[in-house]
Amino acid sequence: MQLQTTVAGLRAALADLPRPLGFVPTMGYLHQGHLSLVRAAAAENASTVVSIFVNPTQFGEAQDFALYPRDPERDCGLLADAGVDVTFAPDEGEMYPSGFDTYVVVGGVSEGLEGAARPGHFRGVATVVAKLLNVVQPDRAYFGQKDAQQLAVIRKLVADLAMPVEIRAVPTQREPDGLAMSSRNVRLSPSERAAATVLSRALRAAEASYRQGERSAERLRQVMRQELAAEPLARPDYVSVADAGSLRELDDVHGPALLSLAVRIGPVRLIDNIALR
Ligand code: PAJ
Repeated sequence: MQLQTTVAGLRAALADLPRPLGFVPTMGYLHQGHLSLVRAAAAENASTVVSIFVNPTQFGEAQDFALYPRDPERDCGLLADAGVDVTFAPDEGEMYPSGFDTYVVVGGVSEGLEGAARPGHFRGVATVVAKLLNVVQPDRAYFGQKDAQQLAVIRKLVADLAMPVEIRAVPTQREPDGLAMSSRNVRLSPSERAAATVLSRALRAAEASYRQGERSAERLRQVMRQELAAEPLARPDYVSVADAGSLRELDDVHGPALLSLAVRIGPVRLIDNIALR
């Protein structure tokens, strides 16, 4: 596996890679969720490129950016073992050289949920993903359902700007107790880690209620709130039952919908979701 840290070096390395090219953007500190994206990319393409870049423009809280876990050497070992051809790990100055002054703002789907809770977050995500797609020019790029709104924002970005790349979605990978894998999970203490299972429990409780015939979005939100209220360490940020396409909050569930929530547990803000269909 080659490691490239500059746009020029990466472009030279890419020129020799057989097509089609699959690309997996990440912020590193890799876990099995990331590696499932890498495996999907490797299975569907002749070459695979992964980026590792903790993108400062998508973090609101300076603390969250500073404390975001990093371990580039371990990451490179995992990616080499997974058969990745090139890893792109630029520093901040390479992605945002002094004078950088262009940002990408996606409308509609970026406004609710994480967009409302973290102003500027999706502007940072859309900007860095647009730049990475321009630099790598992959045939396919892979994103996790774990970040369902991010996936919707990227699909809209690529459609609206006619970017020549196919966006592929990969299911959420979970720990055996249901907790969605996340790089932030390592910041949980043992008691917080145990409490964090409440996110997937709340989602599953609402899903069960839906399967038993409940179609009122507010009652489904109430089911999630009740589960969360039973966990003293959980401080809910939002619970949502939204249209799967527009991500607008629903009154009644009649078509494809997304159940999602954001919850603070100790120092960490966790998100999770499941699709209802
Ligand atoms: P990061 O949080 O590192 O996630 C990289 C990719 O892995 C995203 O597409 C995310 O949805 C996916 N992922 C994370 N946890 C997952 C899990 N448990 N199961 C399946 N997929 C999972 O998302 C970002 O980085 C950044 O916003 C990025 C797109 C790289 C732009 O900076």
